[in-house]
Amino acid sequence: MKTQVAIIGGGPAGMLLSEILHRAGIHSVVLEQRSREYVLSRIRAGVLEQGTVDVLRANGLGERMDREGHAHDGMKIVWAGRDSFFIDVNKHLGKRFMAYGQTNIQEDLFAAADRRNAAVLTEAEDVQPMDVTTDRPYVTFRYRGEAMRMDCDFIAGCDGFHGVSRKAIPANVLREFEKVYPFGWLGILSKTPPLPDIVYANHPRGFALASMRNPTLSRYYIQVPLDTKIEDWSDDRFWSELKMRYPRELADAIVTGPSIEKSIAPLRSFVAEPMRHGRLFLAGDAAHIVPPTGAKGLNLAVSDVFYLSRALAAFYGQGTTALLDNYSDMALRRVWSSVRTSWYLTNLLHRFPGASDFDQRAQEYELEYLKSSHHAQAALAEQYAGLPFEEAA
Ligand code: APR
Ligand code: PHB
Repeated sequence: MKTQVAIIGGGPAGMLLSEILHRAGIHSVVLEQRSREYVLSRIRAGVLEQGTVDVLRANGLGERMDREGHAHDGMKIVWAGRDSFFIDVNKHLGKRFMAYGQTNIQEDLFAAADRRNAAVLTEAEDVQPMDVTTDRPYVTFRYRGEAMRMDCDFIAGCDGFHGVSRKAIPANVLREFEKVYPFGWLGILSKTPPLPDIVYANHPRGFALASMRNPTLSRYYIQVPLDTKIEDWSDDRFWSELKMRYPRELADAIVTGPSIEKSIAPLRSFVAEPMRHGRLFLAGDAAHIVPPTGAKGLNLAVSDVFYLSRALAAFYGQGTTALLDNYSDMALRRVWSSVRTSWYLTNLLHRFPGASDFDQRAQEYELEYLKSSHHAQAALAEQYAGLPFEEAA
């Protein structure tokens, strides 16, 4: 088998890259280890930066998002039971962000792939990038029990944090930066009408977040200790704890109901440098992980794919390699900006076990400053909305 770009991983990064490359006349094959049903079963992010919305619309993936998604001007922050304050992203930046679930995006990507009869091989096993530092790289894998080889010009490692691509970069080349947070998020999905706004809460009992997927589907999270067991959390216990972490008028507005999904996610920050090794290019979670606090994970996958697809189009279209050579540095500038924002918001909004009285006071006065300063709110709004993509020049 031969293709121009072999894409390892059929999540948002891999499938979006496949779609954009196709539109640029570049052939790719997606090798996904799981079934389509499994990929679609994962409940993930739900907030899209303006840049992500623009990329999806520009590639024919915006129709359902614009119909079912919910555009927001900003988000609310409450702490210690006080009145909430609103970070008005639209006022500060003239940008909005869209509440639209990653699962919906994945469905839209699979549907677009089906419409073009794309080469997406699911349940591909033992995928291995080979000879990535030569100009004739290839990928080996097993498909329907048969050993296969895919010759290609480039390999895109879109296989997430637990994938194989990052491991193809030698230890003496790869630099990894990691920060593990001493808590996790217990999240539920419920067929209930959400609050009108996304509301972050910093409470002595811990962080809480109210979000949504659509007008009849709510997404809520509470900070929990790392050793939390999901079986210890009935729906009633979750709703009761969530309401305790919001001021009365917001707590009373939360509509409860049976959870249709409940899971615990650990929080970590991780960045692998460089995001390129020879003909192998990493994109998305394969190269970086952010705590969900800033809703940056999916948006970073999209910005990596935007830069990588632009670079590959320049190579195949004009024979230039400058954008490929700049890919890692350019992608990492945006990655580290989002990693820092996610780290800042995680420190601002969570209760850290063992935090000193000083740490607690400093956190409270950071929130006071954010509530009272137009400049501080504009700075956060700029980062939350997502920085503009860098020009190709
Ligand atoms: N071979 C083939 N496919 C693999 C392999 C492998 N060895 N390892 C992992 N995969 C697949 C996974 O099954 C998954 O479908 O790669 C895909 C990676 O998708 P994601 O983990 O969703 O990562 P990405 O596409 O970068 O999207 C990032 O997803 O995890 C969330 O919070 C994250 O919203 C962010 C987004
Ligand atoms: C979500 O809707 O899943 C969500 C929203 C905002 C965040 C994180 C997650 O910061």
